[in-house]
Amino acid sequence: MARPRKKYVCYNCGHETMQWFGRCPGCQEWNTLVEEIQPQSSAPAVRTPGAKRTHSRPLPLSQLDVISQHRQPTGLAELDRVLGGGIVPGGVVLVGGEPGAGKSTLLLQVAGYLAAGGRQVLYVSGEESGPQIRLRADRLGICQDSLFILTEVDVEAVIGHAVQLQPALVVIDSIQTMMHPGIDSPPGSMVQVRETASRLIAAAKEETIPIFLVGHVNKGGSIAGPKVLEHAVDTVLYFEGDRRASFRILRAVKNRYGSTNEIGVFQMGSKGLEPVDNPSSFFLAERPQRVPGSVVTACMEGTRPLLVEVQALVGPSPFGGTPRRQSTGVEPRRLAMILAVLEKRCGLQLQTQDVYVNAAGGVRIEEPGADLAVAVAVGSSYYNRPVDADTIIVGEIGLAGEVRSVPYGDIRLAEAARLGFNRAIVPASVYHSAAGSGLELELVAVRSLAQGLELALPRS
Ligand code: TYD
Ligand code: MG
Repeated sequence: MARPRKKYVCYNCGHETMQWFGRCPGCQEWNTLVEEIQPQSSAPAVRTPGAKRTHSRPLPLSQLDVISQHRQPTGLAELDRVLGGGIVPGGVVLVGGEPGAGKSTLLLQVAGYLAAGGRQVLYVSGEESGPQIRLRADRLGICQDSLFILTEVDVEAVIGHAVQLQPALVVIDSIQTMMHPGIDSPPGSMVQVRETASRLIAAAKEETIPIFLVGHVNKGGSIAGPKVLEHAVDTVLYFEGDRRASFRILRAVKNRYGSTNEIGVFQMGSKGLEPVDNPSSFFLAERPQRVPGSVVTACMEGTRPLLVEVQALVGPSPFGGTPRRQSTGVEPRRLAMILAVLEKRCGLQLQTQDVYVNAAGGVRIEEPGADLAVAVAVGSSYYNRPVDADTIIVGEIGLAGEVRSVPYGDIRLAEAARLGFNRAIVPASVYHSAAGSGLELELVAVRSLAQGLELALPRS
């Protein structure tokens, strides 16, 4: 028998190499290559090219079913929103997040909801024992007999049970505990994660049973990351935000059946995860009034507007050393660009100042439409002049110090008006398209960052 050859696989991006490197040649991350034993040539991973598959046949387009007609709601409106309307038959969804994010809780709730509607659900756990799951189910008020719990790690056995039971949903908690007996690597290794997932995905498609796969994202990096599965599954959802906070954000980063970047906001309570129906007011609930450095902006999260408070704190760097720039929820490179424009175009002396920027509540701002709000927050703290609490600020900043347009201006402004804001500082193009639309907001058009600072931070 041929000796298995060594190879190295990056658990971050899946790059494979025969030689070990300190830095992955694929994604340039450090220390992400792990040794893998290649499966034997007889292992089931290998499929003969051109092998006959008699059960497939070409079909005219018009005879194919439309997916959206068969979506199954999950019982959690916020989850349905990120999924694009509910569970799709045969769809495979990867739910990633750090340990403790709420993956098991969320999926047990979904399983309980389907079971309460008389559907059979198979919840496979390789992490927790039956009694542990029972304890959580009791806490969540779930006790349906059509919810089947299977504590099993052998993927073939799991598929066997699923084929027999024909449930409305299979939950695999987690993919890192699954193993294929034909592969000589430990569970959680790259080969096992990839092979067990591909077996499950194939089974989901053949049996038209939807599957939720739980995947741990481990910053320490000892476990194969779910990143390698992203291309194979239909939908990828990640839990974001601070897991010590009571709320959780679930974001779709890939979705073959809906839009991406849609978020669902949940609150973790004593009865599990509850959807937050009005995220904007939830995130603004603890906003300080008339404190310099606090600005509210309106972001777009998928198709939904979300009002977020941007906070900045600017103060002299101690000991005249290199000034600190620290940001949470705002991309550091974007912040560096905004600070450079503030220095060059508006004359702020930030070279000797530490700058801290924070999107309040653990939200992650990913769009340039929040630039102007970030810049005004920094200016507000720098000049020690607060921004009017009833004003929202929207706009992208260019390197010339100009304020550029943002998409969906009308949706953002409507959300601000709904939450009681009465003034909006916006790019000129948004001003022109929204003026006369009947919004109960005073609109102020700005063309440059310097003008934005003047308008938002009037000298008293
Ligand atoms: P869990 O769903 O086990 O996270 P994961 O599967 O992603 O590792 O649990 C998330 C956290 O939520 C855990 O610390 C316990 C807590 N929790 C609640 O606060 N309320 C609840 O009703 C439940 C079930 C869990
Ligand atoms: Mg869990």
